[in-house]
Amino acid sequence: MCFLRDIPGVLVILCVLVSASHALGEVINGPCDIFFQDVNNLTLNCSRRNIDRIPNWPEAMKNVSNQDGHVLITFFNNSITNVTELPPVPGNRVAISFKSNKIIEINDDAFNNVHRLVYLDLSNNRLSGDVLRSEIFQGPYKDGVYKSIALETLNLGNNRIHSLDRYLFQYTPNLTRLYLNNNPIEILDHVTILALFSATKLEVLDLAKTDIDSIPLDAFRGLVNLRQIDLSGNKFVTVPESLGLVGTSLQYLTFNNNPIVELNDDSFIGLTNLVELEVGENNYLEEVKRSTFTPLKSLRVLHLCHNRNLRYISHNAFRGIKDKWTLKEVYLDDNNLSELSTDLLPWNKLEVLGMTGNNWLCNCDLANIVTNQEAGTKFKAGEIPYCAAPMRLNGAYITNITASFCPTLDTTFAAKKGFSINLKPKHILWSILGVAAVVGIGMICGLLVNTIKAVYKKNTRSQPIRYFNINDDTNFA
Ligand SMILES: *[C@@H]1O[C@H](CO)[C@@H](O)[C@H](O)[C@H]1NC(C)=O
Ligand SMILES: *[C@@H]1O[C@H](CO)[C@@H](O)[C@H](O)[C@H]1NC(C)=O
Ligand SMILES: *[C@@H]1O[C@H](CO)[C@@H](O)[C@H](O)[C@H]1NC(C)=O
Ligand SMILES: *[C@@H]1O[C@H](CO)[C@@H](O)[C@H](O)[C@H]1NC(C)=O
Ligand SMILES: *[C@@H]1O[C@H](CO)[C@@H](O)[C@H](O)[C@H]1NC(C)=O
Ligand SMILES: *[C@@H]1O[C@H](CO)[C@@H](O)[C@H](O)[C@H]1NC(C)=O
Ligand SMILES: *[C@@H]1O[C@H](CO)[C@@H](O)[C@H](O)[C@H]1NC(C)=O
Ligand SMILES: *[C@@H]1O[C@H](CO)[C@@H](O)[C@H](O)[C@H]1NC(C)=O
Repeated sequence: MCFLRDIPGVLVILCVLVSASHALGEVINGPCDIFFQDVNNLTLNCSRRNIDRIPNWPEAMKNVSNQDGHVLITFFNNSITNVTELPPVPGNRVAISFKSNKIIEINDDAFNNVHRLVYLDLSNNRLSGDVLRSEIFQGPYKDGVYKSIALETLNLGNNRIHSLDRYLFQYTPNLTRLYLNNNPIEILDHVTILALFSATKLEVLDLAKTDIDSIPLDAFRGLVNLRQIDLSGNKFVTVPESLGLVGTSLQYLTFNNNPIVELNDDSFIGLTNLVELEVGENNYLEEVKRSTFTPLKSLRVLHLCHNRNLRYISHNAFRGIKDKWTLKEVYLDDNNLSELSTDLLPWNKLEVLGMTGNNWLCNCDLANIVTNQEAGTKFKAGEIPYCAAPMRLNGAYITNITASFCPTLDTTFAAKKGFSINLKPKHILWSILGVAAVVGIGMICGLLVNTIKAVYKKNTRSQPIRYFNINDDTNFA
């Protein structure tokens, strides 16, 4: 399995909603079906009923307990255009789905009688940003003010949103999951960012397929709880630097299908608590450079799959984290890789390794990784990669290549392969002379630079700019 899955929490609600709505049936014109799984657990199925306005609830709805009742109401795939004020819904946790309707308008106070609404799916409608005003989420009016509602999950995916109202989340202080995917946002403007600022409990943010190519540097400053973000299917040419601001909380990053060409030591700066990273389907990605993964000191799962032009991973890509190794699962399936360096990572410390769907050159390095370093024991059943080259091994499992064609198969040999270790006294003499020459030139250069520096310093003493050097003791004096 090469793809990141959603956090289980939502999944429970989602699964129930989805199974309540996606079952095959055709459109009917009858009333909604109501079923009690048990006294405290009710589903009202209003999906595919040609409904164009919100009906009154059946009488039996009243039997749900206010303390522990869980209520799911789904209007999946109807023709509702206006969400008007909903009749009261009992229960302590209420989930409502309006997925796949034709909603263009939501009235003020729409959810005012449903202040225990924790999950609201408005995805796949025709909502524009203007319709999404703070008033639509107003809770009951009491003591001269509107109260808040309990909303935790809000799905606005697949609509026509360009921008969010800055006060949109004024009455939803507990908002933890926000899905904005598949909207023509293009630019995260000032008001949208102010709206996000106010959602301080946000943990999950989906910005996939929103046509954005950048994220303002301070966009996530207030989101100290942000755990998961999806930036897939956008126009990023680099991983946005602004993620670093939420580096202490961010655990899951999905970055598929963006026009990045390389990953490098700038890509994941500050993401020290990232647990799972997915970088896939980036058709322009060619190279993973040195120190790319160095900042990821807590990473457990890396999905680097389906990047069909990815040809090269630097042997230093994991530089600096190899001795405090945290990674358990590494998936490199379906790229365009042919070689991996033996010292890329501590192969035997992995639990799962995926390497299928590449053009592996089955040479001694690969044999070393697979056999000596035990990478061959980490493949999932039925997911043994094949050799593409050399010709005579084409189509063989890479676990089948053995020491038989690599006589001196050990790490040191493999690592130094390519240098001929064939020194004669003459060579040594030349080497010493060479080194001496380099040192000499180095010293002359040093002297020269120092002299220039001294002159330069004299000339620039009055300038206010100074470079802070962290190693310079005088700064701490
Ligand atoms: C909900 O109703 C629709 C339309 O009748 C039907 O196709 C679907 O199976 C129902 N879902 C459940 C979980 O009963
Ligand atoms: C409601 O019913 C579903 C399906 O039977 C079950 O998975 C869930 O735990 C129940 N929830 C409560 C609160 O009883
Ligand atoms: C609701 O509760 C009332 C009284 O407890 C009971 O008579 C009625 O049958 C219940 N309705 C349903 C649909 O469970
Ligand atoms: C909704 O139902 C219509 C038929 O009424 C169907 O053509 C359409 O594909 C359905 N949409 C979804 C998202 O299932
Ligand atoms: C739905 O909202 C639109 C826009 O506010 C309004 O023009 C229209 O009359 C409303 N339709 C219904 C059925 O309430
Ligand atoms: C938000 O969550 C807290 C903690 O679960 C809860 O006490 C509070 O009532 C919730 N706020 C609203 C408006 O439901
Ligand atoms: C994979 O790389 C090879 C060169 O190493 C290139 O010829 C081939 O076109 C690439 N495959 C794809 C799918 O881009
Ligand atoms: C792997 O090796 C075994 C035993 O040597 C052989 O039977 C099998 O055909 C080989 N399979 C592949 C795909 O290389």
